[in-house]
Amino acid sequence: MSELHSIAARMVAKGKGILAADESTGTCTKRFESIGVESTSESRCDYRSALFTSPGLESYISGVILYDETFRQKIVGTNHLIPEYLQSKDILPGIKVDTGAHPLKEGSEEKNTTGLDGLSERLGEYYALGARFAKWRAVITLGDGIPSDECILANAEGLAKYALLCQQANLVPIVEPEVLMDGTHTIESSFEVTDKTLNTVFEQLEQHHVDLKGIVLKPNMVLSGYDCDNQASIEEVAQQTLECLTKNVPSEVPGIAFLSGGQSNDLAISHLNEMNKKDTDWNVTFSYGRALQQDALKIWAGNLENTNATQGALLSRAKANSLATKGNF
Ligand code: 13P
Repeated sequence: MSELHSIAARMVAKGKGILAADESTGTCTKRFESIGVESTSESRCDYRSALFTSPGLESYISGVILYDETFRQKIVGTNHLIPEYLQSKDILPGIKVDTGAHPLKEGSEEKNTTGLDGLSERLGEYYALGARFAKWRAVITLGDGIPSDECILANAEGLAKYALLCQQANLVPIVEPEVLMDGTHTIESSFEVTDKTLNTVFEQLEQHHVDLKGIVLKPNMVLSGYDCDNQASIEEVAQQTLECLTKNVPSEVPGIAFLSGGQSNDLAISHLNEMNKKDTDWNVTFSYGRALQQDALKIWAGNLENTNATQGALLSRAKANSLATKGNF
C-alpha cells in the first residue's frame, strides 16, 4: 500500500477520529474571549499543550489538525516540538494550509477559500517538519438565492487543486466542503445543497486526477438549519446524510470524518452513532473541533491548575465519539 493510502486508512481507523485544533489566531482569540482569557501565543500554547498531553488520547484520536503557530511550538515545560510529541504518541500531526475564506466577489455574501499561492513549498516544509496530512476548508453559505453555481465550482476547484498538490507532497488531503447550517432552511434544502456541492467536488477531484484512496472527506452532516422551526430527528439526519453521501462519494474513498459545525456536543455524538449502526462503503468518523473541545475549554479557563479536569473533559468526549464510530454509544 502506498504511504498515502496507509496514512489515510490510519486517520479513519475504526474507533478513532481526528481532533481539529487548528483554529486560526483570530478564531482562537474569539474562543478565549468567551471564557475571559487573553489570547497570546503563550496562552494558546498552554491550552493546546494541556489538550495534547491528555493521558491515553491516542486510544481515541488518530490525528490532530494544527495551525501553523502551534506546529512550531513546544509542549509547555518540555523541549518537544508539538508535531514530534504527537508522533511519539502515535498520533498523526496534520496542518491547516488554507488561508481562509474571503468574499467571492466584492460585497458578496458568498466565500471562496484562498491559499494556493506558494502552497507546494509550504507543503514540502510541513512534511519535513513531520506533517502527514493537511486540511483545506471551503465554505458554502446557504441562503436566499445562494449558493450560486459559480461559488460551488470555485470552491470545488480550489479543493481539487489543493488535494493534488498535497498528494504530490506525500500528504493526505482532508477535503472539507462545509455547507453552513446557520439559518432557517429545512433539512431538504440542506440535502439539496450538500448533494450539489459533493457532486461538484468529486467531479473536480476526478478531473484533477486526485487519488481517491489517498484522501479523507470532511463534510457537514445534513441537518435542519439551526433556526428552522422543524428540527429533523436523529434518525432522519443519519438517513439523509448517508443517502447524500452514498449518492456522491465513491467507495474508493477510505473514510469520511465529519465536522461538528456548531451542532451541540451531544447531538454530534448521537448523529455519528446513528450513522454507524448502518453498513457503509467507507469508515465514518469525526474530525470535530468545537464538539470535542467546548467542555474542556470552559474547564481550563486559562488556569494550569485545571489541567487534569480539562483533560478529563476532552477524553470523555473523545471516548464517546470513539464508541459512536462503532455505533456503540
Ligand atoms: P467544528 O467541528 O468546530 O466545526 O470544526 C471542525 C473544523 O475543523 C472546521 O474546519
